[in-house]
Amino acid sequence: MELIGIAADHGGFELKEILKPLLVKAGFQVKDYGAVRFDGEDDYPDLIALLAAGIEKGEVKKGLAVCGSGVGASIVANKFKGVRAALITETYSAHQGVEHDDMNVLCLGGRVIGIALAWEMVEAFLAANYIGGGRFQRRLDKLIEFEQHNFKKIES
Ligand code: RB5
Repeated sequence: MELIGIAADHGGFELKEILKPLLVKAGFQVKDYGAVRFDGEDDYPDLIALLAAGIEKGEVKKGLAVCGSGVGASIVANKFKGVRAALITETYSAHQGVEHDDMNVLCLGGRVIGIALAWEMVEAFLAANYIGGGRFQRRLDKLIEFEQHNFKKIES
């Protein structure tokens, strides 16, 4: 069973809770990185960072990050090595982002998108596979090079 990570702040909490049972029904296992309960004072960087770190560590291969607009979620997630996150609002990009760019985190705006469209985008994202090879791998290699140069961690 494929394990999917999910995280949300208060702006995305409701949509996260709606998506979880849909994912289970569709045959996925869900790792919920929080928030575990609605907290109108929580901060999206804290929650989305847990999912992004999970992707970086290889705990999960794909994740869903939800905040109010999806903007903050995508900004935070992309600060982690190996994370390729994007705010998606339609189904074409939900699968093409995986096929061409190996996108591994789908960011959604809980205050922007309806449940039916959100679920169709999630389905498209999860069913898609990276095409790889040729021009796709050449571009991905360039991104990985940026990461290696810019995401140097000082090991103590
Ligand atoms: C929280 O109120 C809201 O700012 C946050 O969920 C998100 O939309 C940020 O991008």
